[in-house]
Amino acid sequence: MSNHPQDFLPAQAHDAIEALGDDVWWVPGTMRMNKLMGVSRNMVIVRSGDELTLLNPIRLDAAGEQQLEQLGRVRHLVRLGCFHGCDDAYLKQRYGAEFWCQADSRTYPEPPSDHVLAEDWPLPFPDAQLLVFREVKRPECALLIRRGDGILVTCDSLQHYTNWQRHSLIARLAMPLMGFSRRLLVGPLWLKFQTPADSSVRPDFERLLKLDFDALISAHGAPLMQDAKNQARGAVERAFADKGANR
Ligand SMILES: [Fe+2]
Repeated sequence: MSNHPQDFLPAQAHDAIEALGDDVWWVPGTMRMNKLMGVSRNMVIVRSGDELTLLNPIRLDAAGEQQLEQLGRVRHLVRLGCFHGCDDAYLKQRYGAEFWCQADSRTYPEPPSDHVLAEDWPLPFPDAQLLVFREVKRPECALLIRRGDGILVTCDSLQHYTNWQRHSLIARLAMPLMGFSRRLLVGPLWLKFQTPADSSVRPDFERLLKLDFDALISAHGAPLMQDAKNQARGAVERAFADKGANR
């Protein structure tokens, strides 16, 4: 049984699809939690042949869908973090795409996965590589696009901000108080939610830093298209330097 488009969350405000090169695009979007709180939210689009893979998928408005459909055929939807996914069911229905997520990624139970994301398992396009966070409490992974010097796509683990555009006034005021700043950082709230008692997530970031990448596009903020690995090293050092809580 299929639902009507209006049965799903409507498209939230977003800008036009922007090319980043190497058959990779991003969409600067938003996520509004309530009347006062809204933050940036991004989607990455990867083309392989005529097939499109949407990473951190978001529903686009009619003009955005038209632009998307001109790029190729939407074939795969990939949920990289368990705190995202409110548009996955809509996109699966609209495009008949195959949905990928980690086992137990159930914050948004719909749609059920067609493929489980796991390291060393098949991925939606050939020049992709997956890193699964192993030390965290809830599913999270990152996907490396092995094109050029490497583009790492994260969800909430690493986030890069250059400004607070697409954030509501309340978010702009609150985020610096919660540990967010305008640079590449380990998501401070994410790290709190994800760190088990008496344990550390740092080993996952040490494995991430062994990947070959120079660009990073997170589900929040803005793409960082150069020097991302170097800046990621700094972000990890800062996150775990003096934090008893994070170790
Ligand atoms: Fe997020």
